[in-house]
Amino acid sequence: MARTLEQLQRHYNSAAAAHKPNMPPMGRPGGGHGGPRAAGMSGKPKNTKATVSRLIRYMRPYTLRFIGVLLCMLASTVTSLVGAYLLAPIINKLTLAVLPNAAVEMSAAERVADRFIAALTAAGDFGQGEVMNYVLTALLVLGAIYLIGIVTTYLQSRLMLTVSQGITERIRNDLFARLQKLPVQYFDSHPTGEVMSRFTNDIDNVDMMLNNSLTSIVSGAVTLVGTLTFMLTTNWILTLVTVVFVPLLVKGVTAVAGRSRKYYKGQQAALGAVNGYIEETVTGQKVVKVFNHEDECTDEFRLLNDDMRDKQFKAQFWGGVMGPITHNISMISYGVTVGIGGVLMCTAGLTPGALTVFASYSRQFSMPISTLSQQTTVIFAALAGAERVFQVMDADPEAPDAPDAKTADGMRGDVEFKNVTFGYTPDKVVLKNISLYAHPGQKIAFVGSTGAGKTTVTNLLSRFYDIREGSITIDGVDVRDYRRDDLRRNIAMVLQDTHLFSDTVMENIRYGRPDATDEEVVAAAKTASAHSFIMRLQDGYNTRLDGDGANLSQGQRQLLNIARAAISHAPILVLDEATSSVDTRTERHIEVGLSRLMQNRTTLVIAHRLSTVRNADAILVLEQGEIIERGNHEQLLEQKGRYYELYTGKKELD
Ligand SMILES: Nc1ncnc2c1ncn2[C@@H]1O[C@H](COP(=O)(O)OP(=O)(O)O)[C@@H](O)[C@H]1O
Ligand SMILES: [Mg+2]
Repeated sequence: MARTLEQLQRHYNSAAAAHKPNMPPMGRPGGGHGGPRAAGMSGKPKNTKATVSRLIRYMRPYTLRFIGVLLCMLASTVTSLVGAYLLAPIINKLTLAVLPNAAVEMSAAERVADRFIAALTAAGDFGQGEVMNYVLTALLVLGAIYLIGIVTTYLQSRLMLTVSQGITERIRNDLFARLQKLPVQYFDSHPTGEVMSRFTNDIDNVDMMLNNSLTSIVSGAVTLVGTLTFMLTTNWILTLVTVVFVPLLVKGVTAVAGRSRKYYKGQQAALGAVNGYIEETVTGQKVVKVFNHEDECTDEFRLLNDDMRDKQFKAQFWGGVMGPITHNISMISYGVTVGIGGVLMCTAGLTPGALTVFASYSRQFSMPISTLSQQTTVIFAALAGAERVFQVMDADPEAPDAPDAKTADGMRGDVEFKNVTFGYTPDKVVLKNISLYAHPGQKIAFVGSTGAGKTTVTNLLSRFYDIREGSITIDGVDVRDYRRDDLRRNIAMVLQDTHLFSDTVMENIRYGRPDATDEEVVAAAKTASAHSFIMRLQDGYNTRLDGDGANLSQGQRQLLNIARAAISHAPILVLDEATSSVDTRTERHIEVGLSRLMQNRTTLVIAHRLSTVRNADAILVLEQGEIIERGNHEQLLEQKGRYYELYTGKKELD
């Protein structure tokens, strides 16, 4: 039975809101009217002031360029205003040419423009008669002015792009650098997708604000002030008429913007659900097929998709309605201005040129107001995004090494746990009073049911987490007194979850020790019994691995991970269920490699199958965070306790 829309949205939306970046397959959402992505999911910024001042700090290195942007903006706004103004003398001249007796009383500003063109006209001669010469000169001047406008606009957007890209590049770098410093705990408690969406959605929103909103705000403000000044020099009565329409315009825009923001949120939520559903179905395609859920999936997807269409329609509709509404209000304002201007022309000596100029100003005037009101959505989303990015940057990094931290050169691998008690959270104890000792080169095995705390022991040794009580020492030195990188360099790990990078087989193995030579890589592969299968790959050691080694079998991936551990000279080896997800034949193959790897290394081995731990120097049986039995294989069998039960009863743990 397929689920209802509400159920689906509940599942996939919380997932989407929590950790699904708006990545493909749906492409760039909200493309219709260029809105920000995921505004609905990011919510409103909480600490606007701090966020803004932090963003400004990022802008500081670009101060000079930003001033350049402002100057260009100023220049391009002024050119468009002056250009429009030059229409006045042209039209006045033409009016006088057609109606020589018309009473054209030019204002002071118009006279300045007129004299300027007249002076230029006197300098050159197109041989077309007085009026035509005047008009042609004026057109040339206009052309020159608009050319300046084009060049400065181009420079402005280019400069602003370098500024915004530079800022987002630095934010991304800082964010990534911080990620590398965060403790394992951070990644354990934050879904991957959520962390990733800081890099995609959130930074994109900031970028969009820097590129669009910031320039719109500044150029809008400049245009407003400039237009107002020019309008006032032309005619104050008409200026008043235009300004009266501003509140109406603002009201109209904010009303629509509020509505479109609401539906926009809905659109983003629906999009999140669709993306979440697609991601889950694509990654789980095999399971879908095995259980014959194709039809059900299609139906459920239709529901979600249908809902998205609906929400998208509303969002785009209200987004699209904005333009016509502001356009119509400004057209009314325009009409009224021209009407009253006509009356003024007949009664108060307004020149036809001035009226034309004014009409064009009144239209320019309303533009920044509507753009500015539309930008609020983008700005909110960007500030919320920036805040989420800064949250990650502010997360506590791994505690720095003490200034007198020891290097771990020549570590022998003498491991001791003394009365270690630990919990991931303060309220839940996971390991209780654990004590164990491993001589250099010894092999200690952990067995016990799932969740007993075996992996936790290894997490503590490599300081993925720090202990609360007791002590962990290597060669008699507390692990917290070593330099962290040194400590980890001395512990090689092979885990159940393999991980390979998108690179060649050679480089994937070399990851364990970057200065290893090719020969050493091959030797490590031979130790891990990986050499023969690598040679059978298409390009041998130069075969490229993609998508976490998707072109390899699980066992082969594990062999490469073992080779990676083998190449490091670490005296301590941790094997956490290294062979659990492979079949017994492959396991035997892997074990040959593992046993070679364990030679001369202190090994902590956690194994699912008891056959692999039989020859350990000591076996510790862990249950609910406590060591309930310890001894070697024979001793434990004799005890006829939990180990005996596990070994004889089921042979394998659950
Ligand atoms: N990152 C974590 N945060 C909180 N609790 C965890 C974390 N990892 C494991 N645990 C809890 O600690 C206990 C022991 O887990 P673990 O050491 O992984 O068991 P196992 O013996 O199967 O390796 C479990 O109850 C598990 O729920
Ligand atoms: Mg485990």
